Amino acid sequence: MHQRRATRGLLAPAPAPALALALALTAAGGCGGGEEPAFQSPPVDQPAGWSDELALPEAIDENPDPRIVEIQLEARPASVELLPGKPTEMWTYNGGLPGPLIRARVGDRLIVHFVNSLPEPTTIHWHGLRIQASMDGTPGHSQPEVPPGGTFEYDFVLPDAGFYWYHPHVDSAHQLGAGLYGPILVTDDDEPDLGDELLLVLADVSLEEDGSLQAPDVGGPLATLFGREGTALVVNGRIRPTLRARPGLAQRWRVVNAARSRYYQLELAGHTFARIGGDGGLSQSPKMMGRPMLTPGQRADLVVVPQAGEEPLVLRWLPFDRGYGSTEYRPVEEVMAIELEGDPGQPPPQPPAVGREIEPVDTSGAEELDIALTLNPDLEVIELGINGVPSWAAEPLEAAIGDTQIWHLTNDMEWSHPFHLHGFFFQELGPGGQPALPLEWRDTLDVPYHGKASFVVRYDDRPGMWMFHCHILDHADAGMMGMLHLGVR
Ligand code: C2O
Ligand code: CU
Repeated sequence: MHQRRATRGLLAPAPAPALALALALTAAGGCGGGEEPAFQSPPVDQPAGWSDELALPEAIDENPDPRIVEIQLEARPASVELLPGKPTEMWTYNGGLPGPLIRARVGDRLIVHFVNSLPEPTTIHWHGLRIQASMDGTPGHSQPEVPPGGTFEYDFVLPDAGFYWYHPHVDSAHQLGAGLYGPILVTDDDEPDLGDELLLVLADVSLEEDGSLQAPDVGGPLATLFGREGTALVVNGRIRPTLRARPGLAQRWRVVNAARSRYYQLELAGHTFARIGGDGGLSQSPKMMGRPMLTPGQRADLVVVPQAGEEPLVLRWLPFDRGYGSTEYRPVEEVMAIELEGDPGQPPPQPPAVGREIEPVDTSGAEELDIALTLNPDLEVIELGINGVPSWAAEPLEAAIGDTQIWHLTNDMEWSHPFHLHGFFFQELGPGGQPALPLEWRDTLDVPYHGKASFVVRYDDRPGMWMFHCHILDHADAGMMGMLHLGVR
C-alpha cells in the first residue's frame, strides 16, 4: 500500500506550479481557441513507489457506513524481521510492526473490536484523543485490564483532526518495547493539501545480536532511572529504510515518537523544516527549524523540500541532552536514507501558507497547581513520584468540568521528563505566564532536568478519572504517574 496524498479522493491534489499557472491562464481566457498553452509542462510527481519501503499496514474498515470506522485489533505475539534473516519474536497488533494505521475523518465514529491474545493482561490507550474516560484505557480507572483471551470493545467519536497513536497501559515500558504501538490519522477535508504525505512512526527496539528481544529489565535499576533506549532505531517497523523523492517537491511528514524513552532530535543536513503542527493538529502558524525534536509521545507535522546537496541525503538522529548520560559518547545515528530521483520540481514557498486560528486559553480565575516530578532519595528502591508520592500511594487531584488550571511542573532530577496528560489538550505557558507562540494544542510537554515547564488546561464536559505521567515509560512504571478526578461542581 502506498502512502498517498493527505486528502486524495477528498480534495483535488494540488497542481504542480507550472500546471497551476497554466490552469489560471486558461481560466482567465489567456489562451485563445481552446489550444493547449505551449509552455505547459507535465505535472511533476514523486517517483513511482517513492514511499513503498515506508508503507504502513492499514486497519480494514468493515463498516459500510462512511462515518463509521469499524476494525478488528488483536494483540498477539508474532515474528517480525528487523535484522535480515534473524526474526524477532515481538508483541504486535494484528501481527505487524507498528500496529495498523487507523485512518478516519474528524467526526467519524471508531469501533475497535479488541482481542487480547497475549499471555499477559493489557489495555489500549488512545494517546491524544479527547474521548470519554470510559474509553481511555487506563486500567482500574476507566476499564478493567483485558485478561489473556479477553476482549473489549472501544467505541467513540474522533473529535479532532491530527496524528495520534495507540499503545497499552499495563506494564507499558515492557509492552510498548515489545512492539505494541500504532498510528491513528484523523483528517479534516477542510485542511489544505500540503503535498505528498508521509507518516513516520519512530521508535526503537532493544535487540540481541541473534535478533531476539532483550529482557525488559536489561540494565537493572540504573537503566530504569535513565529510561531504556533501544539498540536499533525503527521507522515504520524498519531499520534505516530508504525514501525516494523528487528534488524540489514539498513533502509533509507527520511524525510520532513511539519510543519508550528515546528523545528524537532529527536533522536533514542542509535542510530546514517548517513545523506546521504538533500533538493536537495544526498550529497557529508555521515555525522554521533545523532540528525538530520530539519527546516520547509527541507528534510533529513537518513540511520539508528535499534538495540535492554534496552528500547523499540521510535523515539523522542527533543525541539530545535529556540529562545525565544522554549525550556523552553517543554517536549520531541514521534514521532513513533519501534517494533523489528525477528532475527538480519548482520549490514551493517556505514556510508554506498554512495555519489555523487558535485562541489563547483565558487564564483569569485559573487555579494554579505546583507539581514536582520527584525521585525517592532512598536509592535502594528506585521509586519515582509526583510531589514525592509514587502512583500506587497517590490520592487523585481534583477539578471540575469548566475549570481552568495552570500546572507548574518542576523537575529537580538529573533527567528530563516528558509530561503527558490524558484526555485534554493544553497550551504551554512561557516563563512570564504568557502562552508559548505560535499557539498550538499539546498533550505532552518536556520538563527539562533541573528545569520547569507550565501549561494551562480547560476541562470540557468529560468527567471521570484521567491519568497523567512521565512518558519515559520506565519512569511511569517506577511511580511517576498520577490521576486527576474530574467531577461536577
Ligand atoms: Cu501515551 Cu498514558 O500515554
Ligand atoms: Cu520521566
